[in-house]
Amino acid sequence: MGTVLVIDDHETVRLGISKIVDRMGHHGLTAASGAEGLELFRAQDVDFVITDLKMEGMDGVEVLRRIRELDPDVPVMIITAYGTVETAVEAMKIGAFDFVTKPFAPEVVRLKVTRAMELCEARRARNRFEQETEYLRGQVELRCGELVGRSEAMQQIFRAIEKVAPTDTTVLITGESGTGKELVARAIHAKSKRAGGPFVAVNCGALAEGLLESELFGHERGAFTGAVRRKMGRFELANGGTLFLDEISEISPALQVKLLRAIQERTFERVGSERTIEVDVRIVAATNRNLEERVRQGLFREDLLYRIMVVPIEIPPLRDRREDIVDLSKHLVERLSQRLGMAQKVVSDEALGRLMAHHWPGNVRELENALEQALVFCDGERIEVDCLPTQLRPQPHDESTLSISNDQASLPEILEDLERQLILKAYHESGGTKTETARRLGIKTSALYYKLDKYGIR
Ligand SMILES: Nc1ncnc2c1ncn2[C@@H]1O[C@H](COP(=O)(O)OP(=O)(O)OP(=O)(O)O)[C@@H](O)[C@H]1O
Ligand SMILES: [Mg+2]
Repeated sequence: MGTVLVIDDHETVRLGISKIVDRMGHHGLTAASGAEGLELFRAQDVDFVITDLKMEGMDGVEVLRRIRELDPDVPVMIITAYGTVETAVEAMKIGAFDFVTKPFAPEVVRLKVTRAMELCEARRARNRFEQETEYLRGQVELRCGELVGRSEAMQQIFRAIEKVAPTDTTVLITGESGTGKELVARAIHAKSKRAGGPFVAVNCGALAEGLLESELFGHERGAFTGAVRRKMGRFELANGGTLFLDEISEISPALQVKLLRAIQERTFERVGSERTIEVDVRIVAATNRNLEERVRQGLFREDLLYRIMVVPIEIPPLRDRREDIVDLSKHLVERLSQRLGMAQKVVSDEALGRLMAHHWPGNVRELENALEQALVFCDGERIEVDCLPTQLRPQPHDESTLSISNDQASLPEILEDLERQLILKAYHESGGTKTETARRLGIKTSALYYKLDKYGIR
Protein backbone atom coordinates (compact mmCIF):
# COMPACT_ATOMS: atom_id res chain seq x y z
CA MET A 1 0.00 0.00 0.00
CA GLY A 2 1.21 3.48 -0.77
CA THR A 3 1.53 6.94 0.73
CA VAL A 4 -0.54 9.82 -0.62
CA LEU A 5 0.31 13.41 0.23
CA VAL A 6 -2.66 15.79 0.19
CA ILE A 7 -1.87 19.52 0.05
CA ASP A 8 -4.77 21.94 0.48
CA ASP A 9 -5.26 25.05 2.59
CA HIS A 10 -8.86 24.02 3.32
CA GLU A 11 -8.82 21.69 6.26
CA THR A 12 -12.09 19.95 5.40
CA VAL A 13 -10.94 19.19 1.86
CA ARG A 14 -7.54 17.80 2.82
CA LEU A 15 -8.88 15.75 5.71
CA GLY A 16 -11.74 14.49 3.56
CA ILE A 17 -9.42 13.29 0.82
CA SER A 18 -6.96 11.84 3.29
CA LYS A 19 -9.76 9.88 4.93
CA ILE A 20 -10.80 8.37 1.60
CA VAL A 21 -7.17 7.43 0.99
CA ASP A 22 -6.88 5.79 4.43
CA ARG A 23 -10.07 3.82 3.87
CA MET A 24 -8.58 2.43 0.67
CA GLY A 25 -5.82 0.97 2.81
CA HIS A 26 -3.20 3.54 1.84
CA HIS A 27 -1.54 6.06 4.11
CA GLY A 28 -2.70 9.67 3.81
CA LEU A 29 -0.41 12.60 4.75
CA THR A 30 -1.70 16.15 4.86
CA ALA A 31 -0.15 19.59 4.50
CA ALA A 32 -1.82 23.00 4.72
CA SER A 33 0.55 24.79 2.34
CA GLY A 34 2.84 24.14 -0.58
CA ALA A 35 5.94 24.74 1.53
CA GLU A 36 4.80 22.34 4.23
CA GLY A 37 3.91 19.81 1.54
CA LEU A 38 7.37 19.95 -0.03
CA GLU A 39 8.98 19.52 3.36
CA LEU A 40 6.92 16.38 3.96
CA PHE A 41 7.69 15.17 0.46
CA ARG A 42 11.43 15.39 1.12
CA ALA A 43 11.14 13.67 4.49
CA GLN A 44 8.88 10.77 3.50
CA ASP A 45 8.45 8.19 0.81
CA VAL A 46 5.47 9.58 -1.08
CA ASP A 47 3.86 7.73 -3.98
CA PHE A 48 1.21 10.18 -5.08
CA VAL A 49 0.64 13.89 -4.49
CA ILE A 50 -2.76 15.60 -4.64
CA THR A 51 -2.46 19.36 -4.44
CA ASP A 52 -4.85 22.29 -4.52
CA LEU A 53 -4.16 24.88 -7.21
CA LYS A 54 -4.94 28.20 -5.51
CA MET A 55 -3.12 28.51 -2.21
CA GLU A 56 -1.49 31.33 -0.26
CA GLY A 57 2.24 31.45 -0.97
CA MET A 58 3.25 28.60 -3.26
CA ASP A 59 0.48 27.54 -5.67
CA GLY A 60 -0.22 24.07 -7.03
CA VAL A 61 1.60 24.56 -10.31
CA GLU A 62 4.73 25.57 -8.42
CA VAL A 63 4.37 22.54 -6.14
CA LEU A 64 4.09 20.36 -9.22
CA ARG A 65 7.19 21.93 -10.76
CA ARG A 66 9.29 21.43 -7.58
CA ILE A 67 8.17 17.86 -7.15
CA ARG A 68 8.97 17.06 -10.76
CA GLU A 69 12.50 18.28 -10.02
CA LEU A 70 12.79 16.21 -6.86
CA ASP A 71 11.33 13.01 -8.32
CA PRO A 72 9.82 12.97 -11.81
CA ASP A 73 8.38 9.50 -11.24
CA VAL A 74 5.88 10.55 -8.59
CA PRO A 75 2.50 11.44 -10.11
CA VAL A 76 0.98 14.77 -9.05
CA MET A 77 -2.71 15.55 -9.41
CA ILE A 78 -4.03 19.10 -9.21
CA ILE A 79 -7.46 19.92 -7.83
CA THR A 80 -9.15 23.27 -8.07
CA ALA A 81 -12.45 25.02 -7.66
CA TYR A 82 -11.57 27.38 -10.48
CA GLY A 83 -11.19 24.97 -13.35
CA THR A 84 -10.05 26.85 -16.38
CA VAL A 85 -8.91 25.13 -19.53
CA GLU A 86 -5.71 27.15 -19.61
CA THR A 87 -4.46 26.13 -16.16
CA ALA A 88 -5.38 22.54 -16.87
CA VAL A 89 -3.41 22.61 -20.09
CA GLU A 90 -0.45 24.28 -18.39
CA ALA A 91 -0.50 21.74 -15.58
CA MET A 92 -0.64 18.81 -17.96
CA LYS A 93 2.21 20.31 -19.99
CA ILE A 94 4.57 20.34 -17.05
CA GLY A 95 3.62 16.79 -16.34
CA ALA A 96 0.62 16.73 -14.02
CA PHE A 97 -0.80 13.26 -13.72
CA ASP A 98 -4.34 14.61 -13.76
CA PHE A 99 -6.48 17.67 -13.19
CA VAL A 100 -9.79 17.56 -11.32
CA THR A 101 -12.28 20.32 -10.53
CA LYS A 102 -14.03 20.66 -7.18
CA PRO A 103 -16.46 19.49 -6.07
CA PHE A 104 -15.86 15.85 -6.90
CA ALA A 105 -17.32 12.58 -5.69
CA PRO A 106 -15.25 10.35 -3.36
CA GLU A 107 -15.41 7.80 -6.16
CA VAL A 108 -13.29 10.10 -8.35
CA VAL A 109 -10.59 10.28 -5.67
CA ARG A 110 -10.60 6.53 -5.27
CA LEU A 111 -10.30 5.99 -9.00
CA LYS A 112 -7.44 8.48 -9.41
CA VAL A 113 -5.57 7.02 -6.44
CA THR A 114 -5.92 3.53 -7.90
CA ARG A 115 -4.62 4.70 -11.29
CA ALA A 116 -1.75 6.65 -9.72
CA MET A 117 -0.70 3.65 -7.64
CA GLU A 118 -0.72 1.48 -10.75
CA LEU A 119 1.43 4.00 -12.54
CA CYS A 120 3.81 4.16 -9.58
CA GLU A 121 4.06 0.39 -9.43
CA ALA A 122 4.78 0.25 -13.17
CA ARG A 123 7.47 2.93 -12.95
CA ARG A 124 9.10 1.21 -10.03
CA ALA A 125 9.01 -2.10 -11.83
CA ARG A 126 10.51 -0.52 -14.93
CA ASN A 127 13.27 1.18 -12.94
CA ARG A 128 14.03 -2.04 -11.14
CA PHE A 129 14.03 -3.77 -14.49
CA GLU A 130 16.51 -1.29 -15.96
CA GLN A 131 18.82 -1.33 -12.96
CA GLU A 132 18.70 -5.06 -12.46
CA THR A 133 18.99 -6.14 -16.06
CA GLU A 134 22.50 -4.76 -16.23
CA TYR A 135 23.43 -6.23 -12.87
CA LEU A 136 21.75 -9.56 -13.36
CA ARG A 137 23.24 -10.18 -16.74
CA GLY A 138 25.78 -12.87 -16.14
CA GLN A 139 24.38 -13.73 -12.70
CA VAL A 140 20.91 -14.93 -13.51
CA GLU A 141 19.73 -16.08 -16.90
CA LEU A 142 16.73 -13.92 -17.71
CA ARG A 143 16.00 -16.23 -20.61
CA CYS A 144 15.87 -19.91 -21.28
CA GLY A 145 15.39 -20.81 -24.91
CA GLU A 146 12.47 -18.63 -26.00
CA LEU A 147 11.29 -18.22 -22.43
CA VAL A 148 11.56 -14.93 -20.60
CA GLY A 149 11.12 -14.49 -16.86
CA ARG A 150 12.83 -13.02 -13.82
CA SER A 151 10.36 -14.19 -11.18
CA GLU A 152 11.66 -16.72 -8.71
CA ALA A 153 9.12 -19.20 -10.07
CA MET A 154 10.43 -18.87 -13.64
CA GLN A 155 14.03 -18.94 -12.44
CA GLN A 156 13.32 -22.25 -10.76
CA ILE A 157 11.74 -23.55 -13.95
CA PHE A 158 14.80 -22.48 -15.94
CA ARG A 159 17.03 -24.38 -13.52
CA ALA A 160 14.79 -27.44 -13.78
CA ILE A 161 14.94 -27.28 -17.58
CA GLU A 162 18.75 -27.08 -17.55
CA LYS A 163 18.92 -30.06 -15.21
CA VAL A 164 16.41 -32.31 -16.90
CA ALA A 165 17.05 -31.48 -20.56
CA PRO A 166 20.26 -33.50 -21.04
CA THR A 167 18.67 -36.64 -19.57
CA ASP A 168 16.05 -38.72 -21.35
CA THR A 169 13.60 -38.43 -18.47
CA THR A 170 9.91 -37.99 -19.14
CA VAL A 171 8.64 -34.57 -18.08
CA LEU A 172 5.09 -33.51 -17.25
CA ILE A 173 4.40 -29.80 -17.61
CA THR A 174 1.33 -28.40 -15.93
CA GLY A 175 -0.14 -24.91 -15.94
CA GLU A 176 -3.19 -22.93 -16.94
CA SER A 177 -3.85 -22.29 -20.58
CA GLY A 178 -1.38 -19.84 -22.14
CA THR A 179 1.28 -20.07 -19.43
CA GLY A 180 3.96 -21.28 -21.85
CA LYS A 181 3.83 -25.06 -21.56
CA GLU A 182 4.73 -25.65 -25.17
CA LEU A 183 7.60 -23.19 -24.92
CA VAL A 184 8.99 -25.11 -21.93
CA ALA A 185 8.72 -28.35 -23.91
CA ARG A 186 10.60 -26.78 -26.81
CA ALA A 187 13.29 -25.44 -24.48
CA ILE A 188 13.79 -28.92 -23.02
CA HIS A 189 14.20 -30.31 -26.52
CA ALA A 190 16.52 -27.51 -27.64
CA LYS A 191 18.81 -28.06 -24.65
CA SER A 192 18.89 -31.83 -24.96
CA LYS A 193 21.27 -34.01 -26.91
CA ARG A 194 18.32 -34.64 -29.23
CA ALA A 195 18.26 -31.00 -30.32
CA GLY A 196 19.38 -32.03 -33.81
CA GLY A 197 16.43 -34.44 -34.06
CA PRO A 198 12.76 -33.65 -34.61
CA PHE A 199 10.40 -32.00 -32.11
CA VAL A 200 6.96 -33.43 -32.83
CA ALA A 201 3.84 -32.14 -31.09
CA VAL A 202 0.46 -33.88 -30.86
CA ASN A 203 -2.60 -32.20 -29.44
CA CYS A 204 -4.36 -35.13 -27.81
CA GLY A 205 -7.47 -33.06 -27.16
CA ALA A 206 -8.09 -32.15 -30.78
CA LEU A 207 -8.80 -35.58 -32.26
CA ALA A 208 -11.43 -38.26 -31.77
CA GLU A 209 -10.20 -41.51 -30.24
CA GLY A 210 -9.81 -43.52 -33.48
CA LEU A 211 -8.10 -40.71 -35.31
CA LEU A 212 -5.79 -40.02 -32.40
CA GLU A 213 -4.63 -43.61 -32.33
CA SER A 214 -3.61 -43.55 -35.98
CA GLU A 215 -2.13 -40.08 -35.50
CA LEU A 216 0.08 -41.39 -32.69
CA PHE A 217 0.98 -44.83 -34.00
CA GLY A 218 0.27 -44.60 -37.74
CA HIS A 219 -1.72 -47.05 -39.84
CA GLU A 220 -1.38 -49.53 -42.68
CA ARG A 221 -3.13 -49.17 -45.97
CA GLY A 222 -6.73 -50.37 -45.67
CA ALA A 223 -6.65 -50.45 -41.87
CA PHE A 224 -9.97 -48.59 -41.88
CA THR A 225 -12.21 -46.88 -44.40
CA GLY A 226 -10.34 -43.96 -45.83
CA ALA A 227 -6.90 -45.34 -45.02
CA VAL A 228 -5.82 -45.35 -48.66
CA ARG A 229 -2.13 -45.42 -47.96
CA ARG A 230 0.21 -46.30 -45.15
CA LYS A 231 0.87 -43.47 -42.75
CA MET A 232 3.60 -43.00 -40.19
CA GLY A 233 2.49 -41.95 -36.72
CA ARG A 234 3.94 -39.19 -34.58
CA PHE A 235 5.90 -41.70 -32.50
CA GLU A 236 7.79 -42.77 -35.61
CA LEU A 237 8.16 -39.20 -36.87
CA ALA A 238 9.70 -38.21 -33.55
CA ASN A 239 12.32 -40.96 -33.73
CA GLY A 240 15.65 -39.61 -32.48
CA GLY A 241 13.92 -36.53 -31.09
CA THR A 242 11.20 -35.42 -28.68
CA LEU A 243 7.49 -36.22 -28.75
CA PHE A 244 5.34 -33.56 -27.09
CA LEU A 245 1.98 -34.94 -25.95
CA ASP A 246 -0.13 -31.85 -25.35
CA GLU A 247 -3.42 -32.03 -23.40
CA ILE A 248 -2.62 -35.57 -22.39
CA SER A 249 -5.56 -35.62 -19.95
CA GLU A 250 -7.93 -35.89 -22.91
CA ILE A 251 -6.78 -39.34 -24.05
CA SER A 252 -9.48 -42.03 -23.79
CA PRO A 253 -8.96 -44.89 -21.29
CA ALA A 254 -8.53 -47.46 -24.08
CA LEU A 255 -5.82 -45.44 -25.75
CA GLN A 256 -4.17 -44.75 -22.40
CA VAL A 257 -3.32 -48.46 -22.19
CA LYS A 258 -1.58 -48.38 -25.56
CA LEU A 259 0.18 -45.16 -24.74
CA LEU A 260 1.43 -46.56 -21.44
CA ARG A 261 3.05 -49.44 -23.23
CA ALA A 262 4.52 -47.20 -25.93
CA ILE A 263 6.04 -44.94 -23.28
CA GLN A 264 7.27 -47.81 -21.11
CA GLU A 265 8.76 -49.97 -23.83
CA ARG A 266 9.12 -47.53 -26.70
CA THR A 267 7.36 -50.10 -28.88
CA PHE A 268 3.95 -50.13 -30.59
CA GLU A 269 2.11 -51.36 -33.66
CA ARG A 270 0.58 -49.32 -36.44
CA VAL A 271 -3.21 -49.56 -36.67
CA GLY A 272 -3.98 -52.58 -38.85
CA SER A 273 -0.59 -54.19 -38.44
CA GLU A 274 0.96 -56.89 -36.24
CA ARG A 275 4.50 -55.76 -36.70
CA THR A 276 6.08 -54.20 -33.62
CA ILE A 277 7.99 -51.01 -34.21
CA GLU A 278 10.67 -49.72 -31.91
CA VAL A 279 11.53 -46.06 -31.59
CA ASP A 280 13.91 -43.86 -29.66
CA VAL A 281 11.88 -40.90 -28.42
CA ARG A 282 11.88 -38.67 -25.41
CA ILE A 283 8.42 -37.92 -24.07
CA VAL A 284 7.33 -34.54 -22.76
CA ALA A 285 3.65 -34.22 -21.81
CA ALA A 286 1.52 -31.25 -20.85
CA THR A 287 -1.89 -30.58 -19.37
CA ASN A 288 -3.89 -27.71 -17.94
CA ARG A 289 -5.94 -30.13 -15.85
CA ASN A 290 -5.32 -31.64 -12.49
CA LEU A 291 -4.35 -35.19 -13.41
CA GLU A 292 -4.49 -36.50 -9.84
CA GLU A 293 -8.10 -35.34 -9.76
CA ARG A 294 -8.74 -37.12 -13.08
CA VAL A 295 -7.23 -40.26 -11.57
CA ARG A 296 -9.58 -40.00 -8.58
CA GLN A 297 -12.50 -39.59 -10.95
CA GLY A 298 -11.40 -42.74 -12.79
CA LEU A 299 -10.76 -40.85 -16.03
CA PHE A 300 -6.99 -41.18 -16.07
CA ARG A 301 -4.89 -44.26 -15.35
CA GLU A 302 -2.76 -43.98 -12.27
CA ASP A 303 0.06 -46.07 -13.76
CA LEU A 304 0.20 -43.75 -16.76
CA LEU A 305 0.29 -40.72 -14.48
CA TYR A 306 3.30 -42.07 -12.58
CA ARG A 307 4.98 -42.98 -15.82
CA ILE A 308 4.78 -39.45 -17.20
CA MET A 309 5.14 -37.54 -13.94
CA VAL A 310 8.77 -38.56 -13.42
CA VAL A 311 9.80 -34.91 -13.38
CA PRO A 312 6.92 -32.47 -12.95
CA ILE A 313 7.25 -28.81 -13.94
CA GLU A 314 4.48 -26.53 -12.81
CA ILE A 315 4.16 -23.10 -14.43
CA PRO A 316 2.28 -20.64 -12.20
CA PRO A 317 -0.33 -18.33 -13.74
CA LEU A 318 0.92 -14.93 -14.88
CA ARG A 319 -1.06 -13.10 -12.16
CA ASP A 320 1.09 -14.88 -9.56
CA ARG A 321 4.33 -13.64 -11.11
CA ARG A 322 3.56 -10.08 -12.10
CA GLU A 323 7.23 -9.16 -11.94
CA ASP A 324 7.57 -10.97 -15.28
CA ILE A 325 5.14 -8.62 -17.03
CA VAL A 326 7.67 -5.84 -17.78
CA ASP A 327 10.16 -8.20 -19.46
CA LEU A 328 7.44 -10.18 -21.19
CA SER A 329 5.79 -7.06 -22.61
CA LYS A 330 9.10 -5.79 -23.93
CA HIS A 331 9.97 -9.17 -25.41
CA LEU A 332 6.55 -9.72 -26.95
CA VAL A 333 6.36 -6.21 -28.42
CA GLU A 334 9.75 -6.77 -30.07
CA ARG A 335 8.73 -10.13 -31.42
CA LEU A 336 5.30 -8.96 -32.59
CA SER A 337 6.48 -5.80 -34.29
CA GLN A 338 9.05 -7.85 -36.14
CA ARG A 339 6.41 -10.33 -37.23
CA LEU A 340 4.01 -7.56 -38.24
CA GLY A 341 6.80 -5.70 -40.05
CA MET A 342 6.39 -2.61 -37.87
CA ALA A 343 8.81 -0.17 -36.29
CA GLN A 344 9.73 -0.90 -32.68
CA LYS A 345 7.40 0.67 -30.14
CA VAL A 346 7.58 1.12 -26.39
CA VAL A 347 4.83 0.65 -23.85
CA SER A 348 4.00 3.84 -21.92
CA ASP A 349 4.22 3.73 -18.13
CA GLU A 350 0.47 4.17 -17.78
CA ALA A 351 -0.27 1.35 -20.20
CA LEU A 352 2.26 -0.81 -18.37
CA GLY A 353 0.44 0.03 -15.14
CA ARG A 354 -2.77 -1.34 -16.63
CA LEU A 355 -0.96 -4.46 -17.86
CA MET A 356 0.48 -5.08 -14.41
CA ALA A 357 -2.87 -4.66 -12.71
CA HIS A 358 -4.85 -6.99 -14.99
CA HIS A 359 -5.86 -10.45 -13.85
CA TRP A 360 -4.77 -12.28 -17.05
CA PRO A 361 -7.07 -15.30 -17.06
CA GLY A 362 -5.55 -16.21 -20.45
CA ASN A 363 -2.00 -15.73 -19.14
CA VAL A 364 0.89 -14.93 -21.51
CA ARG A 365 -1.18 -15.75 -24.56
CA GLU A 366 -3.74 -13.12 -23.53
CA LEU A 367 -0.94 -10.62 -22.92
CA GLU A 368 0.46 -11.38 -26.35
CA ASN A 369 -2.96 -10.86 -27.98
CA ALA A 370 -3.53 -7.62 -26.09
CA LEU A 371 -0.15 -6.28 -27.23
CA GLU A 372 -0.76 -7.35 -30.81
CA GLN A 373 -4.06 -5.51 -30.84
CA ALA A 374 -2.39 -2.46 -29.27
CA LEU A 375 0.36 -2.49 -31.91
CA VAL A 376 -2.18 -2.58 -34.70
CA PHE A 377 -4.30 0.23 -33.26
CA CYS A 378 -1.50 2.45 -32.10
CA ASP A 379 -0.29 5.17 -34.47
CA GLY A 380 2.49 6.77 -32.45
CA GLU A 381 5.78 5.34 -31.23
CA ARG A 382 4.34 4.56 -27.83
CA ILE A 383 1.64 2.15 -26.84
CA GLU A 384 -0.72 4.27 -24.75
CA VAL A 385 -3.65 3.16 -22.60
CA ASP A 386 -6.07 4.14 -25.41
CA CYS A 387 -4.58 1.49 -27.71
CA LEU A 388 -5.16 -1.37 -25.28
CA PRO A 389 -8.14 -3.71 -25.70
CA THR A 390 -11.30 -2.44 -24.00
CA GLN A 391 -11.16 -4.79 -21.02
CA LEU A 392 -7.80 -3.24 -20.10
CA ARG A 393 -8.84 0.37 -20.55
CA PRO A 394 -10.38 2.31 -17.69
CA GLN A 395 -14.11 1.97 -18.32
CA PRO A 396 -15.85 5.14 -19.53
CA HIS A 397 -18.34 5.00 -16.68
CA ASP A 398 -15.39 5.11 -14.29
CA GLU A 399 -15.05 8.83 -14.82
CA SER A 400 -18.58 9.75 -13.92
CA THR A 401 -20.20 8.29 -10.87
CA LEU A 402 -22.80 5.58 -11.29
CA SER A 403 -25.59 5.85 -13.79
CA ILE A 404 -29.28 5.13 -13.46
CA SER A 405 -30.20 3.33 -16.63
CA ASN A 406 -33.95 3.43 -16.20
CA ASP A 407 -35.44 6.11 -13.97
CA GLN A 408 -38.96 4.75 -14.52
CA ALA A 409 -37.98 1.70 -12.48
CA SER A 410 -38.98 1.27 -8.85
CA LEU A 411 -36.63 2.36 -6.10
CA PRO A 412 -35.61 -1.21 -5.13
CA GLU A 413 -34.85 -1.92 -8.79
CA ILE A 414 -32.75 1.22 -9.14
CA LEU A 415 -30.88 0.39 -5.93
CA GLU A 416 -30.18 -3.11 -7.19
CA ASP A 417 -28.93 -1.71 -10.45
CA LEU A 418 -26.62 0.70 -8.63
CA GLU A 419 -25.40 -2.07 -6.35
CA ARG A 420 -24.62 -4.22 -9.35
CA GLN A 421 -22.64 -1.39 -10.97
CA LEU A 422 -20.69 -0.72 -7.79
CA ILE A 423 -19.80 -4.37 -7.38
CA LEU A 424 -18.77 -4.69 -11.02
CA LYS A 425 -16.57 -1.65 -10.75
CA ALA A 426 -14.87 -2.76 -7.55
CA TYR A 427 -14.47 -6.23 -9.01
CA HIS A 428 -12.89 -4.83 -12.14
CA GLU A 429 -10.62 -2.48 -10.23
CA SER A 430 -9.32 -5.21 -7.98
CA GLY A 431 -8.41 -7.36 -10.95
CA GLY A 432 -11.11 -9.92 -10.22
CA THR A 433 -9.75 -10.72 -6.76
CA LYS A 434 -12.74 -11.50 -4.58
CA THR A 435 -11.20 -10.78 -1.17
CA GLU A 436 -9.91 -7.42 -2.42
CA THR A 437 -13.32 -6.59 -3.97
CA ALA A 438 -15.06 -7.38 -0.69
CA ARG A 439 -12.55 -5.27 1.22
CA ARG A 440 -13.13 -2.30 -1.07
CA LEU A 441 -16.86 -2.59 -0.77
CA GLY A 442 -16.62 -3.04 2.98
CA ILE A 443 -18.59 -6.30 2.99
CA LYS A 444 -17.76 -9.87 3.98
CA THR A 445 -16.39 -12.15 1.29
CA SER A 446 -19.31 -14.51 1.82
CA ALA A 447 -21.72 -11.64 1.18
CA LEU A 448 -19.82 -10.80 -1.97
CA TYR A 449 -20.10 -14.38 -3.23
CA TYR A 450 -23.82 -14.22 -2.70
CA LYS A 451 -24.10 -10.93 -4.60
CA LEU A 452 -21.83 -12.00 -7.46
CA ASP A 453 -24.07 -14.98 -7.87
CA LYS A 454 -27.24 -12.92 -7.62
CA TYR A 455 -26.09 -10.52 -10.35
CA GLY A 456 -24.51 -13.20 -12.49
CA ILE A 457 -21.05 -11.61 -12.35
CA ARG A 458 -18.35 -14.12 -13.16
N1 LIG B 1 7.85 -17.13 -20.44
C1 LIG B 1 7.54 -16.78 -21.70
N2 LIG B 1 8.38 -16.02 -22.42
C2 LIG B 1 8.08 -15.66 -23.67
N3 LIG B 1 6.96 -15.98 -24.30
C3 LIG B 1 6.07 -16.74 -23.66
C4 LIG B 1 6.33 -17.19 -22.31
N4 LIG B 1 5.27 -17.92 -21.91
C5 LIG B 1 4.41 -17.94 -22.95
N5 LIG B 1 4.88 -17.26 -24.01
C6 LIG B 1 4.18 -17.04 -25.29
O1 LIG B 1 2.79 -17.09 -25.02
C7 LIG B 1 2.09 -17.87 -25.96
C8 LIG B 1 1.46 -19.06 -25.29
O2 LIG B 1 2.46 -19.99 -24.89
P1 LIG B 1 2.27 -21.58 -25.06
O3 LIG B 1 1.59 -21.89 -26.35
O4 LIG B 1 3.58 -22.21 -24.81
O5 LIG B 1 1.27 -21.80 -23.85
P2 LIG B 1 0.52 -23.15 -23.41
O6 LIG B 1 0.69 -23.23 -21.93
O7 LIG B 1 1.00 -24.27 -24.24
O8 LIG B 1 -0.98 -22.78 -23.73
P3 LIG B 1 -2.23 -23.77 -24.02
O9 LIG B 1 -2.55 -24.46 -22.74
O10 LIG B 1 -3.30 -22.78 -24.40
O11 LIG B 1 -1.80 -24.66 -25.11
C9 LIG B 1 3.11 -18.26 -27.01
O12 LIG B 1 3.06 -17.35 -28.08
C10 LIG B 1 4.43 -18.15 -26.29
O13 LIG B 1 5.45 -17.81 -27.19
MG1 LIG C 1 -0.13 -25.44 -25.61
